Amino acid sequence: MKFFLDTANVADIRKANELGVIAGVTTNPSLVAKEGGDFHAMLREIVQIVDGPISAEVISLDAEGMVEEGLKLSEIHPNITIKLPMTLEGLKACHQFAKRGIKTNVTLIFTANQALMAARAGATFVSPFLGRLDDISTDGMGLINDIVQIFTVHGIDTEIIAASIRHPIHVTQAAMAGAHIGTMPYNVLTSLVKHPLTDAGIERFLKDWEGMKK
Ligand code: E4P
Repeated sequence: MKFFLDTANVADIRKANELGVIAGVTTNPSLVAKEGGDFHAMLREIVQIVDGPISAEVISLDAEGMVEEGLKLSEIHPNITIKLPMTLEGLKACHQFAKRGIKTNVTLIFTANQALMAARAGATFVSPFLGRLDDISTDGMGLINDIVQIFTVHGIDTEIIAASIRHPIHVTQAAMAGAHIGTMPYNVLTSLVKHPLTDAGIERFLKDWEGMKK
């Protein structure tokens, strides 16, 4: 499973990219609004940092508006991936982008049928939101498992982005389920490195080393 960073915070993107583990970035209107500033300028900065798909979401609700917005976004850089909502209009726009060879990420996926529809409309990526399903006492990871199974059985090459990841167990389970990508905030990404026994081990090694020198 590859790692994408789910943020519009350029400083966090820079820090995560230095770790060498980031293959792309996902943003959404809420994340962009949290940072403020000019959206296109922000994207121009992000594409210079991370060499991989950078999802930029449209806000129009009709296919025509989505295509217009998406085409402008895609002019920023070839890595810009147009993020579209999982609606009938979103599917129409997805189909238009697929015909033009522009990458898309169909977002707000909460059922396997939505994922299948997006894939058949030509989506490059689908983003099932597992954390938001868990939030309403539904099995988010079950959805990831179902989509992986359906795409495997039918030889669908649309990549599955496990999204709305909240903690390290989501990451492990999404990877085990076969999600191609996990997108997560910076704090979740860095928490994957932490273990108290690692810290205790470093402390003991240093203590023993100091003892040897005496
Ligand atoms: C994915 O592309 C979304 O931006 C994101 O994962 C949503 O996560 P949230 O449910 O924590 O807002």
